[in-house]
Order: sequence, then structure tokens, then C-alpha cells
Amino acid sequence: MHTPGASNLQVLRDTLIAVDRNGIISSVTNADSQHYTALLQQAENSHQLTSLTDTQFMLPGMVDLHIHAPQWPQLGKNLHLPLQDWLMDCTFPLEAKYADTEFADTMYRSLVDTLISNGTTSAVYFATIHRQATQILADICVEKGQRAWVGRVAMDDPDQCPDYYRDQSTRTGLAQTEQLIHSIRAIPGNENGRVQPIITPRFIPACTDDMLQGLGKLASRYNCPIQTHCSESDWEHQYVIDRLGKTDTEALRDFGLLTRKTVLAHSNLLTDTDMDTIAAHQSGIAHCPLSNNYFAGCVFPLRAALDKGLNVGLGTDISGGPSASMFDSCKHVISASRMLESGTNPDLAANQRGVPDTRSDFIEAFYLATAGGGQVLDQNIGKFEPGYHFDALLVETNASGSNLQVFAALDSDEDIFQKTLYGVTRANIHSVWIDGKPVGTSQQAT
Ligand code: GUN
Ligand code: FE
Repeated sequence: MHTPGASNLQVLRDTLIAVDRNGIISSVTNADSQHYTALLQQAENSHQLTSLTDTQFMLPGMVDLHIHAPQWPQLGKNLHLPLQDWLMDCTFPLEAKYADTEFADTMYRSLVDTLISNGTTSAVYFATIHRQATQILADICVEKGQRAWVGRVAMDDPDQCPDYYRDQSTRTGLAQTEQLIHSIRAIPGNENGRVQPIITPRFIPACTDDMLQGLGKLASRYNCPIQTHCSESDWEHQYVIDRLGKTDTEALRDFGLLTRKTVLAHSNLLTDTDMDTIAAHQSGIAHCPLSNNYFAGCVFPLRAALDKGLNVGLGTDISGGPSASMFDSCKHVISASRMLESGTNPDLAANQRGVPDTRSDFIEAFYLATAGGGQVLDQNIGKFEPGYHFDALLVETNASGSNLQVFAALDSDEDIFQKTLYGVTRANIHSVWIDGKPVGTSQQAT
């Protein structure tokens, strides 16, 4: 099952998906096709066939557009604090520990393994300010076969970054970012570019104007993707207006940081004009609905963004969002949109409580988590179509320890899909493939 469109769930029953040596889907052939029998025979003869049982089906792999890799040990902690305190008192001290490369190696291995086991086949990572630890994260992604974008976090402004966790200078920060662009592209085994460097100003408050300008130049010089936080919370949004006299979006555009390859995390407080600007630059948004509960103070206007034609995908925002599962992100897309639509304050009359026609459903949420993320990254991922990378999950509905219960006499394919979105756990994610290769350590399909 896959969602080639935001309101289009396709069930590919009795279908052969052929994958070439490079892990690209070469054909998708239904049993009705005249080629089916010959293709099936060919796959069986070459012992290259993976078949599914009645309790199994495949989904495209999940695309997580926003993960803070170093915050992994903080998952599920410290979320009672507002963003500024959470950064200063908990998150910066934790991220500073990644000066220790052994610590980094342990934490990053645990994270990448866990994400793959949860079905995240593409991951866009913020690392830390440390060049070596960032390189380690990229090396681990190459070793484990995960499709990944790995960014050294740039943060050089003494006003917002503590002495113990800040780029030594703008110049050294830019130099280390540039070094990593080269060294990540050159990792042995990464000739196909499955793991890419990504330019990562943490957010405007943490960076000087010179840093932001310099990173914009690097992005253009090396044709490198970019990620940052954009208009996440009232505090952060207002800070940028006070400092620069413009919104995050306008400032990022003026620093050369709004490109087809930019991923803007959150983007909750965008103005109408900001949305037009982002659409004009074809930049993408990482909607992080779970994290927004804690730090944003509002719900991302998903419907407005989609109506404007913006590219939108989803992020967990580990550890601002306390879940490693993109299926949880899907659920929170739905519940956040329902809250926005109906409103939340029972003291208001029902017809004054919310924003009409803003709900999102399970098909759209899954689309955003897969093909929508692919669109943001400008990659052929997230669908079972010829020319797309074969990044996929095998869901076993009849797994031991499963919360997901399918009743064949009652549940249609669409029901099973919706139930999976709400009820899947690691126990059900039987196998994971990236570029046609089995990855991860769980029960592998043959
Ligand atoms: N803004 C700047 N840094 C961060 C971070 O680590 N997490 C979130 N959610 N917002 C940020
Ligand atoms: Fe974040």
C-alpha cells in the first residue's frame, strides 16, 4: 500500500515490484498484466523473489525531515520547560558532550538502529557543533545503509549561545562546515551519495549575520541542501523581528538560505507573504506536530500551506518530540489538525472555536510522512513507482506482542492501513529495505 497522492491510497494487490541492482524500482506489475507471469517466473527462477503472507503488506519507508541526533538520550525528558530554558539548561549541556567521540559513537549507533527498526529509511539530522562527532554520525549512516542528510550545527552568536557550546569563531564554524561537505561526500561506500552533508544554521537567534551570510554562500558554492528552524515559537519569531526587522523567512531569503533544497523545521508562525516566498523558492517544510505541543504555542497551519502549494513533509524533532516513530508523527498530524479545526476552548461557542476546514486525515498524514518528505528533499522516494528508490517496510500484522489486531472478516484493506497508522509498533515492522537492500537487525525477510 502507498499514497501516490495526498488523498490517494493505492492498494497494490497481487503486484510484483521489480527492483534493479541499484535499488531503483524498474517495474510495478499487476497480475492483470500480460507480463506478470513471465516476470514472476523470472524472479522465482533467479531466487530473487520475496513474497508476502496474508498477514503481511509493504509500505514505503518513512522520511523523517527533522531529527536532533545528539538529543537522543534526552528523549522523553525535560519537556516541562519552555524552549529557551530547555535549550540553555538541558539541551546545550547535552549537545556539548559530543566533543567526546566515544560518547557520540555510542549514542549515534543506538539512534540510527532504533530509527531503522521503526521504519525510518530517510533521516535528516542536525548533529552538534563538533566536526568529528558529525563525521561519526555520517559514517554510521553509510555503514548501516540509511539514507541520510547530516548537518554540523552552526551557532556562533555569543548573545544566545553559551561559551562552552558555541563555534569558536564565525570563521572556524564556516571552515568546519566546508570540511564536512567534502569529507561526507568522500566517505568510502558513499559513492552513490545516499548520505549527504546539509548546511545547518541552528536558528537565526544562535547565528551572527556573518555566519548566516557565509553559510548561504557555501550552500550556493557547493549546491548543498540547507536546514534550519523557522518561526517555531513566539519568542523565537519575535526575537528575529526585533533583531533584523523582518521575519525568519525574509531573513533566510536575504541570507541566500531559501532554496529548492531548504528544509524549514516547524514554520508555525509564517505570514501569508512568508508562505508565498517559500513557495516561490520551492523550499520545504518539516511539520513537527508532536514537538509543537511543547514549544510552539500554536498549531502549524498545514491546510493553508498545502493550499499555497508548499512542499510539506513531517519530522519527529527528536527530542523536542518524544517519539522515535514517524507513525506517531502521522497520528499527531491528524490530532493537531483536528484541534485546529474544532478549536480547544469550551468557553467559546462551537462555531467560534476553531478554523473551519483545516483537518487532515490518515491518508494525507501518511502521504506527508513518505512521498511528501520525498518532494521536500527533491528525491524519488516514498512511492512504489518505477524510477523510485525501493525504500520499504514489511508490516506483519500478526506479530507476537502486537497492539495491531486485524479481523479479516471486518477489516478492509483501507481499514488495515488506517489501523496500522494508529497501532503499529516495532513488533510489526518485520523488515526494512533501503535502496533494495535489507537493513537493520530485526527479523529479516529473505
Ligand atoms: N530551536 C533551536 N534549537 C532547537 C532545538 O534543538 N529544538 C527545537 N525544537 N527548536 C530549536
Ligand atoms: Fe528542532
